[in-house]
Amino acid sequence: MHTDIQEILFTQEQISERIRQMGAAITRDYAPRVAAGEDVVMMCVLRGAAIFMADLARAVELPLEMDYMAVSSYGSAAKSSGVVRIAKDLSGSIQGKHLIIAEDIIDSGLTLSYLRKNLASRGPLSIEVAAMLRKDVARPEEVPCRYLGFDCPNEFIVGYGLDFAERYRNLPYIGVLKPEIYQ
Ligand code: IMP
Ligand code: MG
Repeated sequence: MHTDIQEILFTQEQISERIRQMGAAITRDYAPRVAAGEDVVMMCVLRGAAIFMADLARAVELPLEMDYMAVSSYGSAAKSSGVVRIAKDLSGSIQGKHLIIAEDIIDSGLTLSYLRKNLASRGPLSIEVAAMLRKDVARPEEVPCRYLGFDCPNEFIVGYGLDFAERYRNLPYIGVLKPEIYQ
């Protein structure tokens, strides 16, 4: 597994330190809302964000609901088409609650734009995005992301939940996959 990695971008230690900071920011921002009796739901976009959300949720020192949604975008394995299919919907309601979407990586942003629209129609009090990574995209302002782990280069990234053909998700660090593996 490790020999397929061209370069380690973020080590396990860098990831956990960054998540600690993100969790502290979420705690700070949402504490007044929780104190006012409002509920917060953190939802995971399966499967890539599962490991990220497990760590992020534990870095937030507030009561949270955790829920899961599985989406797949039509198109080739390495490129998103923007046509998103919900393979598994949330189990609970988000109406009248604050929603934090935990996503693994923002590439074109098409997946998140679709999700935001879909979820906004369900009447949440607010929606924010927490993304572990954002690729070097042309117009980042079009994909609002309140909590960002790291900016990363526009290459094929694996590890810490991210896969190529369902492999490498369990790498404890984030790295660039050697191009000869996916070409
Ligand atoms: P977007 O709709 O183009 O923003 O695509 C986002 C989704 O594509 C992410 O949630 C990932 O599942 C997947 N993705 C994009 N880039 C990578 C990558 O470099 N490695 C693994 N998955 C990726
Ligand atoms: Mg994903």
